[in-house]
Amino acid sequence: MGEIVVGIDIGTTKICTIVGEVRANDTYILGVGLEPARGMRKGMVTDVDALSASISSSVHKAERTSGYEIGRAFVSLSTTNVQSMNNSGVTGISGTREVDDNDVQRAMEAARAVPIPHGYEVLHVVPRRYNLDDYVGVRSPKGMHGYRLEVDAHIIMASSTSLRNLEKCVEKAGVYVDRFILNPLTSGDMVLTQTERDAGVMVLDIGGGTTDIAVFVEGAIWHTAAIAVGGQHVTNDIAHGLSLPFEIAESVKLDFGHADPREINALETFPVQPFGEERLSKVKRSDLAMIINMRVTELFELVLNELQQSGHEALLPAGVVLTGGASLLPGMRAIANRTLNMPARVAQPESISGMTDMLRSPAFSTSVGLLRLGLIMDIEDNRRETLRRSDRPPRPPNDAGGISKFFGGLLKRFLPEDEHLP
Ligand SMILES: Nc1ncnc2c1ncn2[C@@H]1O[C@H](COP(=O)(O)OP(=O)(O)OP(=O)(O)O)[C@@H](O)[C@H]1O
Ligand SMILES: [Mg+2]
Repeated sequence: MGEIVVGIDIGTTKICTIVGEVRANDTYILGVGLEPARGMRKGMVTDVDALSASISSSVHKAERTSGYEIGRAFVSLSTTNVQSMNNSGVTGISGTREVDDNDVQRAMEAARAVPIPHGYEVLHVVPRRYNLDDYVGVRSPKGMHGYRLEVDAHIIMASSTSLRNLEKCVEKAGVYVDRFILNPLTSGDMVLTQTERDAGVMVLDIGGGTTDIAVFVEGAIWHTAAIAVGGQHVTNDIAHGLSLPFEIAESVKLDFGHADPREINALETFPVQPFGEERLSKVKRSDLAMIINMRVTELFELVLNELQQSGHEALLPAGVVLTGGASLLPGMRAIANRTLNMPARVAQPESISGMTDMLRSPAFSTSVGLLRLGLIMDIEDNRRETLRRSDRPPRPPNDAGGISKFFGGLLKRFLPEDEHLP
């Protein structure tokens, strides 16, 4: 028996609300509400009323399918309007005693003391590793002896107005925002293996309007960024290139699209009806692939540029893991591999059970990942120790106090050591 939590993934193209039970080894999906997104562009709110109406219907669908009433939720946040940096914080350990929670807390507070850009606020402070005197790269210093404790942390800051606007939309839909969680942290948590994170890896969540980037080095988050290009830009290019309405261009992309023209037979064609023409005309599939290839190559070049600017290019032996709806485009893996010159794979949520039919797709990595990562962050912050009483489950929880038992194994993956357990 795990804990029931709710995640609302607010994307440029879709709102996906999921009610699930996060268990030690998987997330059991109890209900899903999928709704086209309105009022969002490139990861930003453009119309509060339209967006909150979309959120509201997504939430109602999830309530109907799960039988749960949704009062609060973890909410996804795009990396647009987010800035991140690495900083370290130092604290002295007085006397000859073991490092305790307060020491760790003080070091974290010191790391957090960075100049915050005007209009921004700290969203996440993620400890990367600790150094205790001469010991570098300690995973958990608690219980060890030393005089000087240093923490290297990744600090993520989000624009306050973006947060407030999004919060307003969710609350207008009748749901309290438990916490915002950055998209690529969530999808990264869902699709990366610990071995990849330890070796050095980048996750690219290629959605409709944005591509969210997270770089993991030595087992922990190292860099986060966003590029304002996604699947919708590919569709726009097809619409312009072939003189088609956006909706037709979207279905042409889904039915015939390929990112790698080398894979397409030069004689293969498909029928379309361009604007202003009464008859169907034939288009070469390789021409469509050329249009797609140009945009997708540009996207990966922008990613490479971002990677070079942040100085992490040489540190990613495990390469790139592609996820997000647009990673489903055939040929994406090959173009990523060629342009970024690193190993590439496409990933979708694993370790899920229950109502999972449509969720087994890269488009839902963030949506599903929100539940598990949100709960882990709650436990890390000591916000949650037992099953939440304010949500009203249809059946009584039968293991209200047992969270440490079934999360023991799970938490070891994310937390420095077991003492963090409630
Ligand atoms: N089978 C597919 N082949 C190609 N593209 C696809 C496929 N399925 C979805 N897409 C594209 O994926 C994009 C949507 O991806 P996703 O659902 O991850 O975006 P989102 O979360 O709504 O947006 P964002 O994260 O950018 O705010 C759309 O542009 C859509 O065309
Ligand atoms: Mg998304």
